[in-house]
Amino acid sequence: MPIREIRHPLIRHKLGLMRRADISTKNFRELAQEVGALLTYEATQDLPLESYRIEGWCGPVEVEKIAGKKITVVPILRAGIGMLDGVLQLIPSAKVSVVGLARNEETLVAQTYLEKLVPEIDQRLALIIDPMLATGGSMAATIDMLKKAGCREIRALVLVAAPEGIALLNERHPDVTIYTASIDDHLNESGYIIPGLGDAGDKVFGTQ
Ligand code: PRP
Ligand code: URA
Repeated sequence: MPIREIRHPLIRHKLGLMRRADISTKNFRELAQEVGALLTYEATQDLPLESYRIEGWCGPVEVEKIAGKKITVVPILRAGIGMLDGVLQLIPSAKVSVVGLARNEETLVAQTYLEKLVPEIDQRLALIIDPMLATGGSMAATIDMLKKAGCREIRALVLVAAPEGIALLNERHPDVTIYTASIDDHLNESGYIIPGLGDAGDKVFGTQ
């Protein structure tokens, strides 16, 4: 499974701001959307194009469009919602499949509580979004769900990834590329990414 750490200066800068302990809900939200958009730009670099002719200001002109690729964005509730608008800014016509998973705080096992996938998922490229890849359990379960529904092309966009989560996905879903703003150091004994961002869902929703 390829992992792509996108070390663009804008991403490094914005992620640095997100790591501050005293960040406000407003700033965390804005930055999560911005980094989400920048990761989307990277994760769609290789989408195929096709040419077509239009009537331009000086006569007929050949232009390009994305070739027949239907896209579904898949935010993992809750925290994935924090990146959704950033992704949709760049892919405004994408359909949104929502999945809800919550980690049990003691066992760290993710429980699924919602699965609302869009039609024709078997013909779509799925971009899963979640700020945090910690143990990888939530992401692996989401990919299982999408594959079971027939989805064949899946990419994952996460703000921060832990080596433990990367290893799990490498084992269970080696065909899925992960785009991340940072590969962090490790998980602590409570399953939080170090240095990480803290509890991303709480920071996006202001529930901390
Ligand atoms: C967080 C985060 C991921 C998950 C990552 O969600 O947004 O979905 O944990 O952990 P994992 O890789 O060990 O599965 P959480 O379960 O806290 O729910 P929330 O987004 O509703 O706060
Ligand atoms: N979920 C979070 O929100 N943060 C972590 O560091 C790990 C899981």
